[in-house]
Amino acid sequence: MIRPFAIRTLQWLFVAAALVAVLGLASAVGCGGGDDDDDDDNDAASGDDDDDNDAGDDDTVEPYTGPTYYQDVKPIMDSRCVSCHTDGGIGPMALDDYEGAERYSLDVANEVRDRAMPPWNADSGYTKYQNNPALTPQQIDTIYQWAHAGAPEGDPDNPGEPIPVVGLELDHVDLTLKLPVDYVPEIKGNETDEYRCFLIDWPYDTVKYVTGFDATPENRNIVHHLAVYLLDSSLPDSTFEEVETWPTIDERPGYSCFGGPSATYEGKDALQVPVQQLAQWVPGNGARVFPQGSGIKVNPGSKIVLQMHYYVEEQYRDESDKTGIDFMLADDVEKLGAYAPFLNVLWPTKPEKMLIPAGATDVRHSTKQDPRWYLGPFVGGAIDLDDGFTIHSGMLHLHLLGRGGTLKLMHEDGTEEYIVEVGHWDFNWQREYVLQDSLEFKDGDKLFLECRYDNDKPGAKDVTWGERSVEEMCVGNMFITAPKKVED
Ligand code: HEC
Repeated sequence: MIRPFAIRTLQWLFVAAALVAVLGLASAVGCGGGDDDDDDDNDAASGDDDDDNDAGDDDTVEPYTGPTYYQDVKPIMDSRCVSCHTDGGIGPMALDDYEGAERYSLDVANEVRDRAMPPWNADSGYTKYQNNPALTPQQIDTIYQWAHAGAPEGDPDNPGEPIPVVGLELDHVDLTLKLPVDYVPEIKGNETDEYRCFLIDWPYDTVKYVTGFDATPENRNIVHHLAVYLLDSSLPDSTFEEVETWPTIDERPGYSCFGGPSATYEGKDALQVPVQQLAQWVPGNGARVFPQGSGIKVNPGSKIVLQMHYYVEEQYRDESDKTGIDFMLADDVEKLGAYAPFLNVLWPTKPEKMLIPAGATDVRHSTKQDPRWYLGPFVGGAIDLDDGFTIHSGMLHLHLLGRGGTLKLMHEDGTEEYIVEVGHWDFNWQREYVLQDSLEFKDGDKLFLECRYDNDKPGAKDVTWGERSVEEMCVGNMFITAPKKVED
């Protein structure tokens, strides 16, 4: 009874006031139930078949033919939302049945219209990406119309065609590195987050190449995201000596770390070492498989830093986790790959060069250069970049004041290509955006990176470059390959 009434009310309102905002309100009221008493009275007088006929209309009111849950909305939600929005999933409510979808329909409509959900922060319209879960304008429209028609259920026996889930799986798993202990995050006061790093020995005594990875959080209630870094055995001994002191800084397993793999404690400045990024995972990512024939070289004797970001709500305070990350490996590859960080290398050495003054908004820091002169140690020294390199993906790394950022390739002839453009930065959703068509960096080209920040929260202080959560960063990470290997 409630639903046809809401629909009809809305159809009428569409004519009376073509204002989307008003419609949102009207449908909420229509669903409220208070109004449908009158409705039922009229229905009783005119018979069941005439549900639609209570407002003095004639019998020709068209039956509802707009989107319904089972035919139109469920296929979209099953493929784009339910991986996170299920009981025990990372999403705050379940959207895997009609009840949940109906209950949150208006929130859902707003989130998808704003492109806040599914979480995917690279602005479309600049570059095409692989495995892009973003909804099409038609899908957004379907959900929006459905929600504002009172979330009609439709016919469960006549479901719509399923839509394939985006994302890859690994062909095979050769190595799983797990946390060394069942770890119970330590959450202080009414905070919700902990970042904890664990040092793990790389187990092979011959050279291996990582060709892909995937992660399955052991405890989905508390694992928010994770990142994996490589301390290559070619780094100086002094680096390893420093790094090995980090797990002894406090009593608990692992060590405290925030933006990257370095130890971050109040009052202690951690050594910033040229670590390589090896993998990263946020919910909904699926597996990452590197381009055919390429991989990241890992030397025997290397160490892995597994960085866990736990997001722990009140009810999960005592729960533990022992997440692992799966790797696909090869003994040899044709092309060497690496995550290459693009930044102004003066920022880490002279943090005041990246000042974000207290109270300021839309502060921009940028750099434009050919990065090859400094990239060597960051990409393991194994790749010969003399003839340029191929860019396969992009991801930005800023901290909590970040608002947005741009990473693009500027060719010598003045043309430019976007790698990633993020209009609304969200620290919690740092994804690697894999390009549909890779880009070539050639002699004479430059990379351009801009990061944008707001620092106007009450009590704001001046902020500069640093690893801690109260400091900032600006890095554009790319997965790159180069055709030639450096001979060992
Ligand atoms: C990759 C995991 C993931 C996917 C996929 C996902 N969500 Fe979410 N969603 C979240 C998380 C986590 C939150 C909590 C807020 C945040 O972290 O952004 C959330 C919040 C929401 C909210 C509530 C916002 C609020 O706080 O009121 C709505 C509504 C929502 N999602 C709808 C959807 C819909 C609809 C889809 C699919 C089109 C979707 N989500 C896909 C993880 C996901």
